[in-house]
Amino acid sequence: MCGIVGYIGTREAYPIIIEGLKRLEYRGYDSAGIAIFDGTDLKVSKTKGKVSDLEERAEKEITKHGNIGIGHTRWATHGVPNDVNSHPHLSNSGDLVIIHNGIIENYESLKQELISRGYTFKSDTDTEVLINLIEDVKIQENVKLGQAVQIALNQVIGAYAIAVFDKTKPEEIVIARLGSPLAVGVGENEFFIASDASPFLEYTKNAIYLEDEEMAIIRFHKGIKVRKIKDDSIVPAYVQELQMNLEQIEKGGYDHFMLKEIHEQPKAITDTYRGRLLRNEAIIKMAGVEDNMKKFLNANRIIIVACGTSWHAGLVAEYIFEELARIPVEVEYASEFRYRNPIIGENDVVIAISQSGETADTLAAIKLAKSKGAFVFGVCNVVGSSIARETHAGAYTHAGPEIGVASTKAFTTQITVLTLIALRLARAKGTISSSGFRQHLLELELIPKKVEEALESDAHIKMIADVYKNSRNCLYLGRGFNFPVALEGALKLKEISYIHAEGYPAAEMKHGPIALIDENMPIIVIATKKGHYEKVVSNIQEIKSRKGKIIGIVTKGDTQVRELADHIIEVPDTLESLSPLLTTIPLQLLSYHIAVLLDKNVDQPRNLAKSVTVE
Ligand code: M6R
Repeated sequence: MCGIVGYIGTREAYPIIIEGLKRLEYRGYDSAGIAIFDGTDLKVSKTKGKVSDLEERAEKEITKHGNIGIGHTRWATHGVPNDVNSHPHLSNSGDLVIIHNGIIENYESLKQELISRGYTFKSDTDTEVLINLIEDVKIQENVKLGQAVQIALNQVIGAYAIAVFDKTKPEEIVIARLGSPLAVGVGENEFFIASDASPFLEYTKNAIYLEDEEMAIIRFHKGIKVRKIKDDSIVPAYVQELQMNLEQIEKGGYDHFMLKEIHEQPKAITDTYRGRLLRNEAIIKMAGVEDNMKKFLNANRIIIVACGTSWHAGLVAEYIFEELARIPVEVEYASEFRYRNPIIGENDVVIAISQSGETADTLAAIKLAKSKGAFVFGVCNVVGSSIARETHAGAYTHAGPEIGVASTKAFTTQITVLTLIALRLARAKGTISSSGFRQHLLELELIPKKVEEALESDAHIKMIADVYKNSRNCLYLGRGFNFPVALEGALKLKEISYIHAEGYPAAEMKHGPIALIDENMPIIVIATKKGHYEKVVSNIQEIKSRKGKIIGIVTKGDTQVRELADHIIEVPDTLESLSPLLTTIPLQLLSYHIAVLLDKNVDQPRNLAKSVTVE
């Protein structure tokens, strides 16, 4: 989604903003822009395309000197991606300038009102309406910028993160948030504003995260004042020290963030269970679960809400929770759940899964579940994110920053956390034997090494990718714990290579998808030794007799599928419940290599955003 960067201080704002926008590229965008006050005038440059296009354009259009500025990457919601609709937007007087993430839902009525009072609009955006509304309030009510922003936002319905400044008062920036993240980096006599901390990590580790319904007035010499948008009450600005470092958000020698993140999985999984899985003592320690054990144990059922890859992790968790802890689980798309008046109450536990912790639908589903009295537990990666704060309790995945739009390490670490929770509950409920529990702990501890082993097939997978890179369609089949992995494999291929792909439970093949099979159809079948192996082998035979091309994901040493398949990719043996942590690895690599061979933009696929902060 859109990205915001701003700076006010003693340095040149331009390079900080441009580099910051590059750091936010992963969020997904279609245009970019920047506004700098050069000491005399406000200079704006914006364009459809990438930040590199903006740099080219800015080179010709604006001076790069000035100590206050704002920049934006836009992911179009209102109005097509073009130069005019790109941010920043100016008010009619040309004095005020704004960047905005989110959607102003009542922008049309506000616009008509402003038009009736003589305002004109150049773009189709809701953002240009907002900046003129702020200007109108400022003039009509004769108030300062901060107050004008506050009054205007109280007339707005929708979601936003904004940064605004006035060229006639270039010593302050006003920011506000509702439903879209906003962080302020606090330096010595300087402030950085950004959608997340990555643009200012090299300058300061001190950050203030604005909460929903808060705004802040940032003054060059006077510091920052945080207020409630609704009633103007002062909120103490809580400065937290960031734990992230720059290395974590750089490619570290890999061609793409996605590849780096695929290879980071052994470490990420270890980081996820570190300090929680205590094998020698045969215990799992998770504060968020311990503190709320009664809620979990008395739950009628667990409802998992999530989107995309996180939803797939939720589906894997459904199998794991039911198998190990014998608790009924339902897995819901957050976007459906939030609008269908679900029957839930105090005895339900809702687990919300989200890498970014900012997904709008998941956030809304959490609020709905809370309003109905359910206990809501979050599984997030981004520390301090909106979902982490909105849930009653939770467990972080500790995967480290995930920059590639296609989720990889987020998926495996989410499964790891959910497995730990299921095992802890199983132990408390007595649904797992002591030896079974110990065996799971031992096997889980071995997973990072086994992921490393699975990653060794990289060159072989690249060769297979080359054979199938021009396919128009692809089928992914799996059963049981590995059915969601088939869905996830298909999603990975779709989103970065734009090849149509579908995931199915292998046994469903006969109920429709089999009609698609011919000699041009590659079918990736997860056929690991445990879990319906013989039945999946029968499916493979059915595919073979229809001349489909079979890529089997098999347990190391398998001979049966090797006989039938066109290609096999081996993964180490493990417990069936843990196998998704291994079978997903070759599927990630396969999509990665196909996308690279097709020369696609792997880290920033078209139309996609890393965190979807609008509905
Ligand atoms: O940040 P979240 O986990 O809430 O994001 C949910 C989805 O948008 C995300 O998983 C998306 O499907 C990924 N791009 C898939 O790779």
